[in-house]
Amino acid sequence: MVKDHALIYSFLHEYFQEKNLQRKILARRRFLRLLWRLKTHFDWEELLLFPHLKEKNSKDIKQLINEHQEIKQLLKVINDKTENDDFSTEKEEKELEKLLKRHSEFEDKKLYPKLDKKLNEKEKKKLIEEMISQIATDY
Ligand SMILES: [Fe+2]
Ligand SMILES: [Fe+2]
Repeated sequence: MVKDHALIYSFLHEYFQEKNLQRKILARRRFLRLLWRLKTHFDWEELLLFPHLKEKNSKDIKQLINEHQEIKQLLKVINDKTENDDFSTEKEEKELEKLLKRHSEFEDKKLYPKLDKKLNEKEKKKLIEEMISQIATDY
């Protein structure tokens, strides 16, 4: 999952890169790739990972789910605008980048290490298999 965060950042920066070069069609493609990836990532976390932690860290989990909603809201605004060729989305993008950074750092430093301790090897293997099968059903 830490690796997936790095991938999400790289998708976000590739979008910024195309946007800065004013290659709008490519920028839209990069944006849609980011959107899809984040959606899958949040689904994994909410459906497969968080339920393992809920009883012990419910306040943290609630906060993370709220942040997912905030991030999705920002993505929606950017999507609606850029879909209509309006790329004046700097304010939302800055906010998105800031929020994503804070959110993923919290998960990397606090949440995933807890999960790592809590689950045994068999449970981890099962979780990974569930994630892979979810990707398969997404296509
Ligand atoms: Fe998350
Ligand atoms: Fe995450």
